[in-house]
Amino acid sequence: MRISGIIGIMSTALLAACAGIPERPAATAALSARSGSNVSGNVSFAETPGGLRIQAEVAGLAPGAHGFHIHEAGDCSAPDAASAKGHFNPAGKPHGHYAEAEHHGGDMPNLMANARGEAAFDFTLAGVGLSGPTGVVGRSIVVHADPDDYKSQPAGNSGARVACGVIVAR
Ligand code: CU
Ligand code: ZN
Repeated sequence: MRISGIIGIMSTALLAACAGIPERPAATAALSARSGSNVSGNVSFAETPGGLRIQAEVAGLAPGAHGFHIHEAGDCSAPDAASAKGHFNPAGKPHGHYAEAEHHGGDMPNLMANARGEAAFDFTLAGVGLSGPTGVVGRSIVVHADPDDYKSQPAGNSGARVACGVIVAR
């Protein structure tokens, strides 16, 4: 009786130790400077029930607002990042505000840099995920010199592409 009781307690403890929480699939992008800038940073992507959570830390920016989008092509090789092509647009919509019905899948809020040129970003973007037709892995994320006005076509008049990173599965 006494020995089987101890074994029972031990096996319960072992089961609890093995019951790990499965990790969510995730992706990252390392931002490289383009168009003669000194911008650098890192971005992470994780699927949540409300959409794709995108977190970024960026440095080397001019203070103020900067357009920030997911672009169609996972190619940052051009010196001006033109190789990243246009905004990721799986639903065939016009450019617009991320919270309104008409917008590109890759349209996001402006990145806001402080007086030291640093920006922290944490936003959950509905309508996109990591993989499949609305998936961002294998595409790119781009920071612009100027603010996105959320209405000018095709890209919010946000100016030069000052940083670009290819989105890769982690
Ligand atoms: Cu862009
Ligand atoms: Zn757009």
